[in-house]
Amino acid sequence: MMLPSKSDCISGIKTFYFTFLASLFLHTLASPTLLHYCRHDQMDALLEFKNEFPVNKSNPTPYDVPLSSWNKSSDCCSWEGVMCSVKTGKVISLNLSYVPLRNSLKPNSSLFKLQHLRNLTLKNCSLYGEIPSSLGSLSRLTKLNLLNNNLVGQVPASIGNLAQLRYLDLSQNKLSGNIPISFVNLTNLYLFYIHDNYFESTFPFNMSGFQKLKYFGVGANSFSGVFPTSLLTIPSLIYINLEGNRFTGPIDFRKTSPSSTLKYLNIAYNKFDGPIPDSLSELINLGEIDLSFNRFNGSIPRSLAKLDNLYYLDLSGNKLEGQVPSWLWRLNVVRLSYNSFNSFENNSPEPAAPSETQGIALDLSSNSFQGPFPHEICKITSLYILDLSNNRFSGTIPSCFRNSTGSLMEELLLGNNILTGVHPDVFANATNLKAIDISNNNLEGKLSRSLINCSSLRFLNLQGNGFKDEFPSWLGSLPTLNVLLLRSNHFYGPLTLYHRHNVSIGFQSLRVIDVSLNDLSGALPDSYFSTWREMKKPDAEYDDAYMKDSVIDASVFHSMQIVNKGVDTIFNKIRSDFISIDFSENSFSGSIPESVGLLKGLRLLNMSGNTFTSNVPSSLADLENLEALDLSRNQLSGQIPRELGRLSFLSAINFSHNHLEGPVPRSTQFQSQPCSSFVDNPKLSGLEDICGENRVPITTPQESKELLKAEEKGVNWIAAAIAYGPGFFCGMVIGHIFATHYKYEWFMVKFSRNKPRSVIRSTR
Ligand SMILES: *[C@@H]1O[C@H](CO)[C@@H](O)[C@H](O)[C@H]1NC(C)=O
Ligand SMILES: *[C@@H]1O[C@H](CO)[C@@H](O)[C@H](O)[C@H]1NC(C)=O
Ligand SMILES: *[C@@H]1O[C@H](CO)[C@@H](O)[C@H](O)[C@H]1NC(C)=O
Ligand SMILES: *[C@@H]1O[C@H](CO)[C@@H](O)[C@H](O)[C@H]1NC(C)=O
Ligand SMILES: *[C@@H]1O[C@H](CO)[C@@H](O)[C@H](O)[C@H]1NC(C)=O
Ligand SMILES: *[C@@H]1O[C@H](CO)[C@@H](O)[C@H](O)[C@H]1NC(C)=O
Ligand SMILES: *[C@@H]1O[C@H](CO)[C@@H](O)[C@H](O)[C@H]1NC(C)=O
Ligand SMILES: *[C@@H]1O[C@H](CO)[C@@H](O)[C@H](O)[C@H]1NC(C)=O
Ligand SMILES: *[C@@H]1O[C@H](CO)[C@@H](O)[C@H](O)[C@H]1NC(C)=O
Ligand SMILES: *[C@@H]1O[C@H](CO)[C@@H](O)[C@H](O)[C@H]1NC(C)=O
Ligand SMILES: *[C@@H]1O[C@H](CO)[C@@H](O)[C@H](O)[C@H]1NC(C)=O
Ligand SMILES: *[C@@H]1O[C@H](CO)[C@@H](O)[C@H](O)[C@H]1NC(C)=O
Repeated sequence: MMLPSKSDCISGIKTFYFTFLASLFLHTLASPTLLHYCRHDQMDALLEFKNEFPVNKSNPTPYDVPLSSWNKSSDCCSWEGVMCSVKTGKVISLNLSYVPLRNSLKPNSSLFKLQHLRNLTLKNCSLYGEIPSSLGSLSRLTKLNLLNNNLVGQVPASIGNLAQLRYLDLSQNKLSGNIPISFVNLTNLYLFYIHDNYFESTFPFNMSGFQKLKYFGVGANSFSGVFPTSLLTIPSLIYINLEGNRFTGPIDFRKTSPSSTLKYLNIAYNKFDGPIPDSLSELINLGEIDLSFNRFNGSIPRSLAKLDNLYYLDLSGNKLEGQVPSWLWRLNVVRLSYNSFNSFENNSPEPAAPSETQGIALDLSSNSFQGPFPHEICKITSLYILDLSNNRFSGTIPSCFRNSTGSLMEELLLGNNILTGVHPDVFANATNLKAIDISNNNLEGKLSRSLINCSSLRFLNLQGNGFKDEFPSWLGSLPTLNVLLLRSNHFYGPLTLYHRHNVSIGFQSLRVIDVSLNDLSGALPDSYFSTWREMKKPDAEYDDAYMKDSVIDASVFHSMQIVNKGVDTIFNKIRSDFISIDFSENSFSGSIPESVGLLKGLRLLNMSGNTFTSNVPSSLADLENLEALDLSRNQLSGQIPRELGRLSFLSAINFSHNHLEGPVPRSTQFQSQPCSSFVDNPKLSGLEDICGENRVPITTPQESKELLKAEEKGVNWIAAAIAYGPGFFCGMVIGHIFATHYKYEWFMVKFSRNKPRSVIRSTR
């Protein structure tokens, strides 16, 4: 199983957050601008300021002519982004968010003539260059927002002159150096954000003077040194984010303000070490704690159970060990992956239910658990997501687990353990389950028929087990099943289709099926694929938001893992449109059904390593989206249909080891294939361009199969493109956190930018 990291989550969900942000902005559009008689000096200064920014004459789209409403035909107090004082007519607020200014702020800019400015917002204005020192002359400023521009250099010390400043956001620029000492004078600060810059060194001053500070965010920089404990003396603070820096050393929270209001503490992705401090429990209002990816060791301190308001705890990626305490079951999100936890607190009382009705997302993957599936888990009846992958859990998933799957559970991830069985009725009540991954265990025998009750199931991954059963055509009754992965088991018999009232309904929603490396056999009727509704849609994206977000997420992640040449060019894309069939390495016989040509959305078709006979169906030429076609190692005869030359996306083709004859179609797609794609078809002609002057090399099917297996190690095409797992999990958990955040009127912005581990959470 691929291992998740924060950045994987981030890349996949940033779209979501941008969309969300955009909707928020729409929601909070500026209130109607008040009309007041504009003062000439103010208007002149504004017009001069406007002229400092070039108009792109070659591209006069409205968006590209910034500030076109700034002209003398109307009152300057009504201009876009301008607000004047009712009493004096002076400009007191300038908000040019998203106006593409595309220039630097000059030290002599007319902006600095607007001496009555209180709010200055130049967010995402494509400003570049240094912040001019003259900004310090706007002594009435209470709010300065320069979020998300290409700004460089050091922050001028003169900003320390802005004694009225309450709100300062310099996030997402390329500012460097240290925070000027003069900032110590900004004693009115309420919000201080400098996320995602290149600031470095230690915090230069004692911050206990910021007596009004609520939000302190310096994530995704290069700050070093020990935890700035002076922060904890600020009585009003509710948010600290130090994520993604180089802070070191153990932490002691004992100097906290006794009435700490801190709700949010994120110090993830640093180099803090030592034990998780007991004194953390003195921050009694904490709701969310993220200590992930540091070097904390020891166990989870008992005292944390005192944090009554806690709902989110992320301790992933540390060196923690010992027992998982059962008081955690009352939280909404618990992430303990990538540690060395090995057991559960035993004799624990019935856990209290989490406060939220949506239940608990619990990630215990990649730890040191072993032994039977933990009965402690059965006691948590409000599980929403459970991830126990990458451990050494053994034995059977017990009947008691039915209580957990039956209530709220949406995702069950148990891959990469050594489980040997599933109690037959575990899923009998699991009507909310959307995803099940039990891949790479030692499961044997028949598939639990209780899966038939998982009426919300979208994703089922059973690959890499020892299931010995007939092909589960009854899964065709699940109305939303999108992905079915049965690869590498012992499923046998024909690929029958599910019938209802004597009518075949096939797999209505299936987009990806992989039954490769099983013992399936028999012929497929010519009309076999005619009822597979979803695959018949050309260019169909997932219409289900759950799958869409998740699959994109996971596939982006996995596309980075694919290095095998040839394959990477196919799948190195965002594959929410991925539709594929892999029937390879079984014993199918008869002809390849003509009805395959109905599956207009198909991107990958792999029927290799079977005993298909007869012709290559000419209907394949209708699959205009096809990118990879492997029919090798069969007993196909006749000619390769010339029409296949038309398939312009087809970039990987394999017809080797068949009885094909006649000319190879002439098209770029065919001519750019390696010679090995056609070998061992003695009667094929026209291979000179592809194979060169030399005789076409012949390898035996056996040699070729071994070669394939060797090449294929680590690259499973389908898994590569849709691979499910942590990405999915991240998406869901973060969606979940989002819901909880909303309660506190917080939202998170997550950016990947150039820094792989930057995760930024902002406040409204
Ligand atoms: C600033 O302007 C942008 C774009 O018009 C708007 O979305 C935002 O709400 C404004 N901000 C404030 C604080 O008025
Ligand atoms: C002006 O617009 C053209 C056309 O869109 C673009 O190619 C060019 O880069 C722009 N110039 C500047 C300075 O933005
Ligand atoms: C001047 O501003 C008004 C809105 O105040 C706008 O409708 C008009 O198009 C602008 N004129 C020019 C020449 O840009
Ligand atoms: C600002 O200074 C630049 C040179 O640095 C000069 O070209 C420009 O005219 C000055 N602008 C004003 C408004 O004084
Ligand atoms: C200035 O910004 C503050 C903080 O966002 C806000 O409360 C205030 O209403 C703004 N004032 C003006 C004049 O836009
Ligand atoms: C910021 O502005 C640039 C160019 O104007 C735009 O492409 C980008 O999407 C904007 N970013 C956000 C977060 O709105
Ligand atoms: C803080 O402000 C005072 C009074 O204006 C000034 O004397 C002092 O130098 C400032 N401190 C720093 C570190 O800039
Ligand atoms: C910071 O300043 C406060 C008040 O001046 C003082 O009590 C505290 O000891 C200082 N903290 C540090 C870490 O120097
Ligand atoms: C934690 O790590 C420190 C430093 O490596 C070590 O001295 C200490 O014994 C460790 N504690 C535990 C409980 O493993
Ligand atoms: C499961 O639920 C049933 C009925 O609600 C209850 O009787 C049983 O004790 C539960 N089992 C466990 C292990 O919690
Ligand atoms: C299964 O669900 C039904 C209906 O919600 C409920 O009555 C029954 O007790 C559940 N059975 C178990 C074993 O959870
Ligand atoms: C499916 O659910 C129904 C109704 O809750 C139950 O009677 C039946 O036994 C379940 N089927 C299986 C195969 O578990």
